[in-house]
Amino acid sequence: MITTDPGGDFVRVYGNREALCRAAARELLRVLEEAVSGRGSASAVLTGGGTGTGILAALAGLLEEEPALDWSRVHLWWGDERHLAAGDPERNEVQAAAALIDTLVAAHGMPAGNVHPMPASDGAGPERAAAQYAAELARHAPVDPGPDPRLPVFDVVMLGVGPDSHVASLFPGLPGPETRGRTVIGVQDSPKPPPQRVSLTVEALNTARRLWFVVAGLDKQEAVSAVRGARNAKTTDAARWPASVVSGGMATTWWLDGAAAR
Ligand code: 6PG
Repeated sequence: MITTDPGGDFVRVYGNREALCRAAARELLRVLEEAVSGRGSASAVLTGGGTGTGILAALAGLLEEEPALDWSRVHLWWGDERHLAAGDPERNEVQAAAALIDTLVAAHGMPAGNVHPMPASDGAGPERAAAQYAAELARHAPVDPGPDPRLPVFDVVMLGVGPDSHVASLFPGLPGPETRGRTVIGVQDSPKPPPQRVSLTVEALNTARRLWFVVAGLDKQEAVSAVRGARNAKTTDAARWPASVVSGGMATTWWLDGAAAR
């Protein structure tokens, strides 16, 4: 069942995280197929965290059922990354590779060049990594620019939400949520380990055609309620609730399990 919040966000509530991940994976496939058939290509921005990675694992289970999608037309990006050495199992891209992307490249025709992980810490600090990623994004901006000439057209951006209402690596109380004029930033002192991260900015996330908050667990209940309340009352606050100031141009959807939605 899909309901709509007074502020216009769509809300989908599922019995548990597994059901949420299965439904979101199916819808992600549909969105990518629609973009590829409509525009000839598709770009999705992935999120770290248990629910975001769970969606990728669920999608891996659908690949045999829905072989229609031409994965060579799909590009995968990240909303944030834990700034660790290449191959570190804590890196979002390493977890995403294990859940889905290795299979897409090995057996479903996705060129490795279509996968765009954020640079690892071996090569540079977070700020230099952020500059490198911003350049990679700009290289893939379409000739007839979409919402932002510095970025590809993001058909869907998925974001986990922290108990403190952070999204990507934009944390309350740090400069990130209010940074303007940049698409990617380095993050120091993240309250969620590891301390160093790289993150898309609010203005980059807001170019999403569809923005999905993917949230499960009782520990998220307060954050979900606060952020939805602020969005509905138009009292959004980037510094206090970073999730409250990101939206999709076409649609913003909350994908919740019953616990987070309570
Ligand atoms: C990260 C994520 C982070 C995550 C949220 C929710 O690198 O940790 O990008 O933003 O999505 O903290 O994580 P869970 O879904 O695991 O609760």
